Amino acid sequence: MEIFFATNNMNKVREAEAVLRDFGIKVVPVNVKKIEIQHDSLEEIAKYAARIAYTELGKPVVVEDSGLFIDSLNGFPGPYSSYVYKTIGLRGVLKLLEDYREIELRRARFVAVVALALSESDIKVFRGVAEGFIAFEIRGCKGFGYDPIFIPMGSTKTFAEMDVEEKGLYSHRGKAFRELGEWLHRMQQRR
Ligand code: IMP
Repeated sequence: MEIFFATNNMNKVREAEAVLRDFGIKVVPVNVKKIEIQHDSLEEIAKYAARIAYTELGKPVVVEDSGLFIDSLNGFPGPYSSYVYKTIGLRGVLKLLEDYREIELRRARFVAVVALALSESDIKVFRGVAEGFIAFEIRGCKGFGYDPIFIPMGSTKTFAEMDVEEKGLYSHRGKAFRELGEWLHRMQQRR
């Protein structure tokens, strides 16, 4: 089985591939314009983008939207993670947390929402959450985005110190795409 994934981010494609491979599903990246509305809900952002991608492509397609939510900052940057990454960056986020010297005060989670548009009105949503902590310093050079400052619960490494397969065991994206894989697998068995 093949699944079209509308994204310009090849890191996301590699992470989705690492998970969906186990379900016998091939990921085909497609470069449709990403229309990202500003909204407090990742679900709404992903669903909207999936609908637009379906209209452009004319075939079932997957879109994913994710965000980093930091407890001590009341969930900031959340749905604004991309803007915050581009503006203040990793150092800016570490600076915001410089007074939080205990790891427990640096609790955060990554959330990924994968939206599969089967038509313009039939959109399935799969969600994955990775609980963890914001590191005290930038560590590692793999991955992308906030990976060098995020330590998932159960590990001592940041995401940027893991290869794609290891990251996928812990990550929000790994979990959301596994949910998608299981759903597609069930649908195939019903046929
Ligand atoms: P988007 O889903 O591409 O809109 O991502 C929002 C922001 O979160 C971007 O700045 C990404 O770089 C960042 N981000 C999303 N997923 C991850 C991840 O798995 N690791 C690190 N940063 C991520």
